[in-house]
Amino acid sequence: MGGVSLKVNGQPVLGGEDASQTLIELLRDQLGLTGTHAGCDTAQCGACTVLVDGLAVKSCNVLVRQLPGAEVQSIEALAAPDGTLHPMQQAFGQHHALQCGYCTPGMVMRAVAMAAEDVPAEPDAVRPALAGNLCRCTGYSGIVTAVCQGLRQMRAAP
Ligand code: FES
Ligand code: FES
Repeated sequence: MGGVSLKVNGQPVLGGEDASQTLIELLRDQLGLTGTHAGCDTAQCGACTVLVDGLAVKSCNVLVRQLPGAEVQSIEALAAPDGTLHPMQQAFGQHHALQCGYCTPGMVMRAVAMAAEDVPAEPDAVRPALAGNLCRCTGYSGIVTAVCQGLRQMRAAP
């Protein structure tokens, strides 16, 4: 069996010719999209989170062959073409929601998916929604504040 066709950041891509290729391998190794980070490779840390058809998915834990026709978005797709950062990226910067930054792309993609899940922009709702994303540096306070602000701004956008 050959590969499958999907879209990554709006571009058509053929992947999965190797049946064991994971989505993070497609992104980083085949396409050079190294903004998506590998932390554990065992679906625990969330550093590799991307959007697949709008849902947050740990890309180390899905095979490309499972994704025919899928629309994948990685962190590289969030900023506008003129370089303006996505509201969630801006909120992370404003609230100092990162230190080493290793977890940040996965955190941001998980947070963007929360907007479509109707997660309330409240710390008590955001904390459990972030349970699959680990940060070794920040203590989470700034991250939670940033996600709440980012959600509010995404929902206020026209
Ligand atoms: S690298 Fe995928 S969850 Fe950790
Ligand atoms: S900022 Fe370092 S792991 Fe989260």
